[in-house]
Amino acid sequence: MLSTCAIRMEERKTHFGFQTIDETQKQGMVGGVFSSVASSYDLMNDAMSLGIHRLWKNRFVDMLDPRGGIRCLDVAGGTGDIALRLLDHARTKHLDRETHVTILDINAQMLVEGQKRVKESMYWNTPQVKFQLGNAEALDEVMPVPERKNPVASTRRQPILPPLVSEPIESASVDLYTIAFGIRNCTHIDRVIAEAFRVLKPGGIFACLEFGKVSIPLLAHMYKQYSFQVIPPLGELLVGDRDSYQYLVESIERFPTQAEFARMVAEAGFLLPGTAEASSMGLPPLVGRGAWENLTLGVATIWTGTYALCMMCSQAGIKPFA
Ligand SMILES: C[S@@+](CC[C@H](N)C(=O)[O-])C[C@H]1O[C@@H](n2cnc3c(N)ncnc32)[C@H](O)[C@@H]1O
Repeated sequence: MLSTCAIRMEERKTHFGFQTIDETQKQGMVGGVFSSVASSYDLMNDAMSLGIHRLWKNRFVDMLDPRGGIRCLDVAGGTGDIALRLLDHARTKHLDRETHVTILDINAQMLVEGQKRVKESMYWNTPQVKFQLGNAEALDEVMPVPERKNPVASTRRQPILPPLVSEPIESASVDLYTIAFGIRNCTHIDRVIAEAFRVLKPGGIFACLEFGKVSIPLLAHMYKQYSFQVIPPLGELLVGDRDSYQYLVESIERFPTQAEFARMVAEAGFLLPGTAEASSMGLPPLVGRGAWENLTLGVATIWTGTYALCMMCSQAGIKPFA
C-alpha cells in the first residue's frame, strides 16, 4: 500500500507533453516554449494549420457575438488574435466602441508580440484594450513584471512600447471570459476554470477554444500522423525549433476529450448549453449542438458555459450581453 507521503509525491507530478515532470517545473518549461516561439508564433500557426486557425477563431468570436460595451478577459491572449477579433466584431457588427478586452498572458514576450500587433490597429491607446501579465490559475495574484529594454528609436518591427502591468482581476468583474489554445498549457486545468468562474459576473460566459479529438478513427489516425510527422520538422525548417513543436503536438494528444473537458466546466459550476436546465432558464443557445462544438471534425473544439443567472433574474428577462 502506498504511504500518504508517496501519494502526495504522486499527486505533484504532471505532464509536459509526453514527459512526466514535477508540477513545479511545468510553468517554467511552458514559459520556455512560448518565449522561444513568440516572434514566429503567427507564421507557424498559419503554416501548421494551413491558415485554418483563422477560421476557427472567427467562428469562436462570431458565436460569442460580443456587443453592448461588455468587459472581456482574454486569458492566454498571447499575440492578441482573439482580442482583436472581439473588438472588430463588436465594432463592425454592432457599432460598439465601448466593449473592452483585457489581454492576459503569463509570458511577457507573447504579450509584447500582442502589443506590437495592437499598435498597428485603431484600438491602440484607446480605453478598449489593456495588456496584463498574469497566471490563468491565480488571476487574483500579481506577477513580477520583467524590466523592458525599449529600442532607442521606434520602428515598425521594434516599436517603443509601454511597460506591462500585473494587477489582480477582481471577482465578478468580467462579462465574457475567453481562452484560446491556452488551457492545455496550464498545470491545473481545474484551477483555471475555477478562476474563470470567480472573475465572471453572474450571467457571464466562459468560452474555450482548444484542440479536441477527431472522432472518426481513420481521420484521427491520419491527423495523428500529420501532427507527429509534419509539425515538429516544420518547426525545425521554418523557425529552427523542433522541440517546441514536439511539445505542442504531445500536449494536444494529452488534452482531455470533448466530454471530459465539458464535465470539468460543469463541475466548476457552469451551466452547459444544450442542457434542459439551460433551456429552462432561457439561456441563449451559444453553441447550438450541445455542450461543445467541433470544428474541422473535432481538430479544434469550442466549449462554453454560463455562470447561470438565478431563476428570478431569468424570469425578469436579465440575460448575458443584454
Ligand atoms: C498557443 S498560445 C495561444 C495564444 C492565443 N490565445 C491564440 O489563440 O493565438 C498559448 C498561450 O498560453 C499562455 N499561457 C500558458 N500558460 C499560461 C498560464 N498559466 N496563464 C496565462 N497564460 C498562459 C502562453 O504564454 C501562450 O501565450
